[in-house]
Amino acid sequence: MNGQERRSRSTEAFFGRRRGKTLRPQQAAALAAGLDAIALDLKQPAPDRLESLFQAKVSEVRLEIGFGGGEHFLDEADRLPGIGFIGVEPFVNGMAKLMAAFEEQPRQNMRVHDDDATVLLDWLPAASLTGIDLLYPDPWPKKKHFKRRFVSKENLDRFARVLKSGALFRFASDIDTYVNWTLQHCRAHEAFDWEATSPLDWRTPYEGWQGTRYEAKALREGRTPAYLTFRRR
Ligand SMILES: C[S@@+](CC[C@H](N)C(=O)[O-])C[C@H]1O[C@@H](n2cnc3c(N)ncnc32)[C@H](O)[C@@H]1O
Repeated sequence: MNGQERRSRSTEAFFGRRRGKTLRPQQAAALAAGLDAIALDLKQPAPDRLESLFQAKVSEVRLEIGFGGGEHFLDEADRLPGIGFIGVEPFVNGMAKLMAAFEEQPRQNMRVHDDDATVLLDWLPAASLTGIDLLYPDPWPKKKHFKRRFVSKENLDRFARVLKSGALFRFASDIDTYVNWTLQHCRAHEAFDWEATSPLDWRTPYEGWQGTRYEAKALREGRTPAYLTFRRR
């Protein structure tokens, strides 16, 4: 299988950059130590009770896909210590940023995966999560690249499998065509209901929301975010 074929498979949804600037030795050391401590080992089968993956006693587990520099991921883990959070980020410099914060203050309710989220989704047991956050995913604004967007029928099927009934899928974006794309895909999917009752709903940030780096950039550049919430039937 050549690189092009590998990347177009529905099981491989990572099309971005894996590396940016070379890490300083201290950043590289924090990254290695952090991954050693909290990266999930997908070579082992997932436990039946996902809560057992965490050192902290947690009552439920949520997932954040593409956490960037980890700002929201850290906020949520600190705000909700009784919940376990799995964060996914294949971009090395993003993961290194998170691990610098983790080195300063280790958290017992965090685990990570440093590769494509679809691989993790396929590893997770069915009906094991109470939430999935996809915040400012890469927009792929050109029509010929729409198929690279993380939201797709295949990935919504993955979400539907791993989410418990009643669990939430939250999607935030500042790119109108991606917001509409996601609404259309979720409306067409039998497993999801859109929670909104008025325009205020999708213009209002989520509870406890402190923003993300991409959101700050969007706001600086004059774009308006939308915060969608779908419920797994
Ligand atoms: C536009 S950035 C947004 C980062 C962060 N959520 C924020 O709002 O600041 C999108 C992120 O998704 C990550 N990403 C892209 N494809 C992914 C995939 N298949 N699995 C996991 N993460 C992915 C990228 O590496 C990138 O860091």
